[in-house]
Amino acid sequence: MFKFPGNFLWGAATSAYQVEGGNTRADWWQWEKETGKEPSGDACRHYGLYEQDFDLAKGLHHNAHRLSLEWSRLEPEEGQFSEEALEHYLNVILALRARGIEPLVTLHHFTNPAWLAKKGGWENPGTVKLFLKYTAFILKKLAPQVRYWITINEPTVYVYESYIMGLWPPQIKSLWRARTVENHLAAAHIKAYRLIHETYWRKKMQLPSVSIAQHMQDFVPCVPDFRNKLAASLRHRWFNLGLISKFRRHKALDFIGVNYYSRQRVEVQKWGLRNLFMDICVKAEHRVPETNSSGWEVYPEGLCRVLLKLKGYHLPIVITENGICTPDDALRWRYIEAHLRSIHRAIREGAPVTGYLYWSLMDNFEWHDGFGPRFGLIGIDYPTQQRTVRESAVQFGKVCKTGALEQDL
Ligand code: GAL
Repeated sequence: MFKFPGNFLWGAATSAYQVEGGNTRADWWQWEKETGKEPSGDACRHYGLYEQDFDLAKGLHHNAHRLSLEWSRLEPEEGQFSEEALEHYLNVILALRARGIEPLVTLHHFTNPAWLAKKGGWENPGTVKLFLKYTAFILKKLAPQVRYWITINEPTVYVYESYIMGLWPPQIKSLWRARTVENHLAAAHIKAYRLIHETYWRKKMQLPSVSIAQHMQDFVPCVPDFRNKLAASLRHRWFNLGLISKFRRHKALDFIGVNYYSRQRVEVQKWGLRNLFMDICVKAEHRVPETNSSGWEVYPEGLCRVLLKLKGYHLPIVITENGICTPDDALRWRYIEAHLRSIHRAIREGAPVTGYLYWSLMDNFEWHDGFGPRFGLIGIDYPTQQRTVRESAVQFGKVCKTGALEQDL
């Protein structure tokens, strides 16, 4: 029997744009129209159906839920804040609390208001100030109900996809501009961290726990020669730890939010900065046996390895995302179970993990891949919006209920 620590946070994560539907004021909405990509449209209609969805989460014994707020609903035009949208999110959070579910609230999960994108988005230094105004607006009503804040979801992934690979809006490919955006996101986190803490302190409320959700991979040299080992170590230090270390130095981190999905096999083709940071193994004989439906390797051991490397920060760690897209629900449960074992091993070896949130509570809009990938514990039939609780959800629900994993499962 693998017993997890008491007071462990158990549940699942979502993000506003991926589940709510109808986020017409967001940059992604415009971008889907411009590029002819599969539109997010109604998504899971979670904006209206959240109570029903939280009933399902409660039935699955979740005691925590990670959600995000959609900035473009809360500030559809610059400076015009919507009290109605704020009231909506207050009701969402109260609906979680009424079901005994602890909310972890993300302020920014990849999408921006369209008006902000038009002003240059995160390349514009003024965006940091605008993010703080948005944060202040939220805090005035939500602070008393929220103990866990995640300022920015996966800043490094956002920078990589939108400003290095040029895949996501605004589709820029420039290391120089990427650096600027990363600096602005970092400044926004540090300042928002301080604002959140000051607000709670002024209101004499118990201080909250604030972090980011950082996407981390296990970077493994394919052939362990000097160049590959150097590349793996550089990637770990930049991609996994860069911002975490910076925020620690600025005393702007109360816990570490880790999003883990897979490992990366590092195989550098030739000397060069881009090669050191980007090259991966493409050898046919190294194809991996088990992947998700998007081709990412299933590699649970990597999570333990990543967690052990975070021990030196002496901060609680919450797994803010971990999951698999697959049409094979038995594989989903094997994936969850193997990752929980990996976490348990890390805890036994001293990593202070205090929560696990599966990605995602339900199938949803997987960004540029549209609705194809199925990550959900709960299946969605999009034409009817029918919810179906999958068997993996029931199995995971047993762990959430008992805080333990049977050894012989
Ligand atoms: C994360 C992201 C989520 C979700 C997930 C699955 O990087 O935060 O929004 O899309 O990946 O790909």
